[in-house]
Amino acid sequence: MTNEPPKTNGADPLSFAYWVPNVSGGLVVSKIPQRTDWNLAYNVKLAQIAEASGFDYALSQIRFIGSYGAEYQHESTTFSTALLASTTRLKVIAAILPGPWHPHVIAKLGATADQLFEGRWAINVVSGWFAGEFEALGLPWLAHDERYKRSREFIEVVKGIWTEDNFNYEGEFYKAKDFTLKPKPVQRPHPEIFQGGNSRAAQENAGAVSDWYFMNGNTPDGHRKQIQNVQAIAASHGRHVKFAVNSFVIARETEEEAQAVLASIIDQADPEAVNAFGGAVKEAGQASPEGQGMWANSGFKDLVQYNDGFKTNLIGTPRQIAERIVALKDIGVDLVLCAFLHFQEEVAFFGERVLPLVREFEEARSRARAA
Ligand SMILES: Cc1cc2nc3c(=O)[nH]c(=O)nc-3n(C[C@H](O)[C@H](O)[C@H](O)COP(=O)(O)O)c2cc1C
Repeated sequence: MTNEPPKTNGADPLSFAYWVPNVSGGLVVSKIPQRTDWNLAYNVKLAQIAEASGFDYALSQIRFIGSYGAEYQHESTTFSTALLASTTRLKVIAAILPGPWHPHVIAKLGATADQLFEGRWAINVVSGWFAGEFEALGLPWLAHDERYKRSREFIEVVKGIWTEDNFNYEGEFYKAKDFTLKPKPVQRPHPEIFQGGNSRAAQENAGAVSDWYFMNGNTPDGHRKQIQNVQAIAASHGRHVKFAVNSFVIARETEEEAQAVLASIIDQADPEAVNAFGGAVKEAGQASPEGQGMWANSGFKDLVQYNDGFKTNLIGTPRQIAERIVALKDIGVDLVLCAFLHFQEEVAFFGERVLPLVREFEEARSRARAA
């Protein structure tokens, strides 16, 4: 099973992922009633609905302790394997936090999961924004760019172990000596490595070592700038990187209905939790040497969806959303990551009403290109 680099611009169909609600409170920091649940039974059914609806990936989250509306959290790797066991086609991306986990353990665990579930395992290496989490674990909280240096080494070690025999590594954070992993993962050259984080350090890591660069929600211009920058960094390393964007999707029959849902999510936001989250994430992009990165320019309303998902503006009718999705493809996006208010029914609605339009618009563009 081979993971191919992207073909020529826009020739591949867009891929779709959904956020696994493996933490409580859904994907918005709001008291609005949600039918989404973080338990296993809900998530197994959701994964089955998602793969039947045309979703390619599920992305789990990692939080070691409660934070801002996610009082309960299931661990990402264990939860991901449970979803793989209940599906046949969906790839599951497990969020991995260097620090608590060592790359050798994740390489071994991932190889087993990839063997057990026919090459459907992937990881999203995150670099941390929550100082309180590291404090609770008794681990040092490194400065922003040091965390990314550790993540770069983490990815190099995982890849080395997945692809080489007698692997050796001498880094500042990690070492390996004559390490041969058997069996190796099914996927070649290795399971896909996603990386979340938008700062300069995150972009440099993506260009140098990641297969995928995961962006928070943003405007088309904000996404375009990041894509161009990471593409240039990747080219300087002789590599290709694929691009994924986060979005909170509110698809309704009319634009008014969709905007009303957004307004009630914001009206019922939990100001204490949103403001506390806003304070904690100052440890992320704003703490980087150039003050750029995730959440550096996020206001109260943006922070209600904790990955800036409203900014991508996939809020409206199925047609409006499909048009904005193909516009994202036009600027180089390969995958759209979706969060929803009521996941099961909205994933199904997205599959029925939005995806067919996306495919129709993609076809029209291919025909226009070929003409
Ligand atoms: C799509 C996506 C998913 C993420 N998932 C997690 C997660 O599950 N746990 C976590 O601690 N951080 C997660 N992050 C956050 C980061 O990976 C990142 O390390 C942090 O926010 C700092 O980003 P910055 O350097 O751009 O400011 C995610 C980020 C993105 C874009």
